[in-house]
Amino acid sequence: MTSTTREIHLSSRPTGWPTHENFRIVETALPKPTAGQVTIRNTVMSVDPYMRGRMNDVKSYAAPFALDAPLDGGVVGEVIESNDDSLRVGDSVMHGLGWREHAVLDANRVRKIDTTDVPASAYLSVLGMPGTTAYVGLVRMAEVKEGDTVFVSGAAGAVGSVVGQLAKNLGAARVIGSAGSPEKVAYLIDELGFDAAFDYHEGTVSKQLAVHAPDGIDVYFDNVGGDHLEGAITNMREFGRIAVCGAISQYNNETADPGPRNMGLIVARRLTLRGFIVSDHNDLAKEYLARAGGWLADGSLKFKETYVDGLDNAVDGFLGLHRGNNLGKMLVRLV
Ligand SMILES: NC(=O)c1ccc[n+]([C@@H]2O[C@H](COP(=O)([O-])OP(=O)(O)OC[C@H]3O[C@@H](n4cnc5c(N)ncnc54)[C@H](OP(=O)(O)O)[C@@H]3O)[C@@H](O)[C@H]2O)c1
Repeated sequence: MTSTTREIHLSSRPTGWPTHENFRIVETALPKPTAGQVTIRNTVMSVDPYMRGRMNDVKSYAAPFALDAPLDGGVVGEVIESNDDSLRVGDSVMHGLGWREHAVLDANRVRKIDTTDVPASAYLSVLGMPGTTAYVGLVRMAEVKEGDTVFVSGAAGAVGSVVGQLAKNLGAARVIGSAGSPEKVAYLIDELGFDAAFDYHEGTVSKQLAVHAPDGIDVYFDNVGGDHLEGAITNMREFGRIAVCGAISQYNNETADPGPRNMGLIVARRLTLRGFIVSDHNDLAKEYLARAGGWLADGSLKFKETYVDGLDNAVDGFLGLHRGNNLGKMLVRLV
């Protein structure tokens, strides 16, 4: 058994875009698990947009990362030593101590996962937090209905790619996505069954959306904010609903962008905008898992994952996520 392990620390807080100088790889002793604890060899870790917010020292829904301490986040792995009856060596598990090659933690902070039909990594993507976010946003925030026209931004990413497919499965008549390259646009239409998609670099969101949804949209699932939110508001039908999930176009900005210039339409069109954080809706997680299992089995829900290899490249994976290098979920393979 290895006696040391490696982890990534935040060494300074980024201003604007993070750089490698903000992080440090640290070799550290791997403690023995005490009673009730397990040792896990982490195999795949998640890098997520919300982690950028936690690198700032500001009060938010998730506590800031501490300086000179390991980062954390979703990860899957294998139990290699157990001092608790609930878990055995060889069990596949997920937990919250990512950004490190091994973790020693209390067994009650670890969830056993079933990898019979899906790889463990699916619990970080389609069956995990991003998938559940798509479901909560569509079902509870936007209250998607039969016949709706739905627009989703960040459509080729972890959350967005699930949103488009779920919208169809939940009865939407037409689903439109925006993404950052022609390859992503082709993927949405050819492989995921979106009715239309466009590259937001090729014209304003407002104009491109109007071409693909000439009668307007009922639901907008916002992953991007900024120009996308403004363009969607312009194209909303009366009584339209917007699930405000994220604003990735702004996370690395040093100063705040001005808000949408067309907020007046929220009144005129009687729109509803609802912001949400998935962890406030854990009551829907089980329901989503059950339904997603069925959709994966019948082929109406597909997923892709993009990997970078090794803890040494985890920061590049995180930065790549913000630059759009991922198709589907961005993950880091640790073994
Ligand atoms: N509210 C919640 O509880 C919750 C939970 C999970 C995630 N989220 C939010 O959901 C959104 C998507 O998260 P995810 O994990 O699924 O990430 P993701 O979509 O897999 O990856 C991020 C994507 O954002 C796109 N992007 C980056 N800069 C952009 C810009 N300026 N304009 C337009 N697109 C840009 C890139 O794709 P392109 O190549 O298309 O640009 C990139 O691939 C994020 O805003 C995240 O914060 C919220």
